[in-house]
Amino acid sequence: MKHEIIEKNIGIMIVLIILTISGGFLAEVVPLFFIDETNEPVEGLEPLSALELEGRDIYIREGCHVCHTQQIRPFRAETERYGHYSVAGEFVYDRPFLWGSKRTGPDLARVGGRYSDAWQRQHLYDPRSVVPESNMPAFPWLFQDRVDHTDTEAKLRTLQTLGVPYTDEQVAEAADEVKGKFEIEALVAYLQQLGTVISEKR
Ligand code: HEC
Repeated sequence: MKHEIIEKNIGIMIVLIILTISGGFLAEVVPLFFIDETNEPVEGLEPLSALELEGRDIYIREGCHVCHTQQIRPFRAETERYGHYSVAGEFVYDRPFLWGSKRTGPDLARVGGRYSDAWQRQHLYDPRSVVPESNMPAFPWLFQDRVDHTDTEAKLRTLQTLGVPYTDEQVAEAADEVKGKFEIEALVAYLQQLGTVISEKR
């Protein structure tokens, strides 16, 4: 009967919903900010180089994250296939996160070093030339266009402001590092480092 009072009074309902959600937030989310395991970088984690960072932006621009996740869940079926499950400390320099939620293609969290650079290039140029049944789109323009280096320095500086440990020297040299490089070089550099900080592999 008491339940009926709540169900028929939208004001009380709203207040109780807010209380319930806040309680859940306090218990589940707030502690994560204070646990080292979730906000400290894993040992050996380095910020992305300027070239890898530009590669990451190309990854976002081309929508790779729409078909690929970057998060291995701690289930046997996933760790057998992809390697060690993902841990929070691997992503502390990632802004925004690219965990994704839809796997049209395989998870890429530990794809770094799994294939040669040559394979990655061939696969991005024409996926079906290496995986005949693939329905991944081809990205041939990455082989023609050069990396836009006009914002590279600003990108590193912004991340530095947000706490990513770039040195002033790295920021100053960022544009020169990527100048004249083809987009495919940046993207492959980004892919080849994915997940390599944790080396326990399948
Ligand atoms: C429409 C969905 C789709 C999009 C968009 C897409 N992929 Fe894929 N990708 C796939 C599928 C499906 C496969 C599995 C077949 C294959 O290997 O080609 C795959 C496979 C891969 C693999 C091999 C993974 C492995 O472990 O074998 C890599 C690397 C990859 N994609 C990178 C990319 C990158 C980088 C982009 C963006 C430039 C991208 N993909 C965009 C669907 C997609």
